[in-house]
Amino acid sequence: MNHTEGMFKPGAFKGKTILITGGGTGLGRSMGKYLLELGANLVISSRKKDVIEKAAEELREETGGKVLAVACDIRKYDEVENVIKMAEAEFGQLHGVLNNAAGNFISPTERLSHRAFDIVVDIVLRGTYYVTLAAGKNWIAKGQAGSFLNIVTTYAWTGSGYVVPSACGKAGVLALTRSLAVEWAKYKIRSNAIAPGPFPTEGAWSRLMPGELVKKFDPAARIPLKRVGEHQELANLAAYLLSDYSAYITGEVVTIDGGEWLRNGGEFSYLEDLKTEMWDQLEKMRK
Ligand code: HXC
Ligand code: NAP
Repeated sequence: MNHTEGMFKPGAFKGKTILITGGGTGLGRSMGKYLLELGANLVISSRKKDVIEKAAEELREETGGKVLAVACDIRKYDEVENVIKMAEAEFGQLHGVLNNAAGNFISPTERLSHRAFDIVVDIVLRGTYYVTLAAGKNWIAKGQAGSFLNIVTTYAWTGSGYVVPSACGKAGVLALTRSLAVEWAKYKIRSNAIAPGPFPTEGAWSRLMPGELVKKFDPAARIPLKRVGEHQELANLAAYLLSDYSAYITGEVVTIDGGEWLRNGGEFSYLEDLKTEMWDQLEKMRK
């Protein structure tokens, strides 16, 4: 057993159709690949048609699975409705939605234009609630069960300087996740979230640790488990939360960050830097 291996039995998602927003790159692509390996039909969408079409072609070759790529800007409700229509035309029914698309960059907040703030919140929060509303209304009208899985971050509840628009957007998504878990439970619609710590992707690393920052602030160094995340371990968790194996879990947010956020909040976490000799000295002083 290893955290870099898939943990589900083959065919676990046979007959299920899952939509992943931002599914052509990074974590969305990795989670999609695993769902395809498990037999799911996959719908991927994002703004860049060429990127998702290329990803769909590669994913078909890598897994032998069925992938539909539909270009969509999740900030445009009619485009979101079109993705759902296309998914149903291709595969009959949508069973799960993975709200993964996001936008982010680092900046002191006072340097942001109001448009820069809007652009991130619009993708992260407005985009997520548009997709959720369109899919939820569709499921409710047809009396179908469904499962939402939203990708947030640990700073959705702590907040974080230098990524304030993203923190505001993700906090909203967290509220959406928990609110609808209760309100839509009567329709057999579940709503959960995952809060990942650092998982290397081109999209995140280029925007959040540009240039020398990645060397200066190695994320692995501040994580108690001393490493960043592996895409497969996130894919295992996503598959579980989207699947019927988690049928009794709703409104939950699962953190997968090697202990990072708790360590950063722990008053005395800095004592990790104390050498053994210093602890010996302190012990002598005490006696
Ligand atoms: C300050 C910036 C900026 C930056 C853009 N803007 N980048 N301001 N610092 N680095 C401002 C622009 O000046 C402009 O405002 C406004 O934002 C819109 O910029 P555009 O380039 O026109 O926007 P657009 O082409 O729509 O691109 C959106 C984007 C881009 C969010 C800026 O980065 C993007 O496409 N991102 C999608 C993918 C992504 O971000 N992935 C990372 C997710 S990682 P003005 O006023 O000048 O017009 C993540 C991890 C979280 O979320 C947790 C990690 C642990
Ligand atoms: P990524 O590859 O940049 O993924 C973001 C995706 O969102 C892209 O495919 C992008 O495609 C899509 N997107 C952006 N704006 C969109 C819009 N308006 N409409 C539709 N799609 C849009 O980055 P990632 O690291 O894999 O991030 C995936 C998710 O994980 C995000 O929710 C992020 O916040 C979260 N996360 C990541 C980390 C990490 O360490 N990587 C940590 C915590 C949380 P287009 O540009 O083609 O639209």
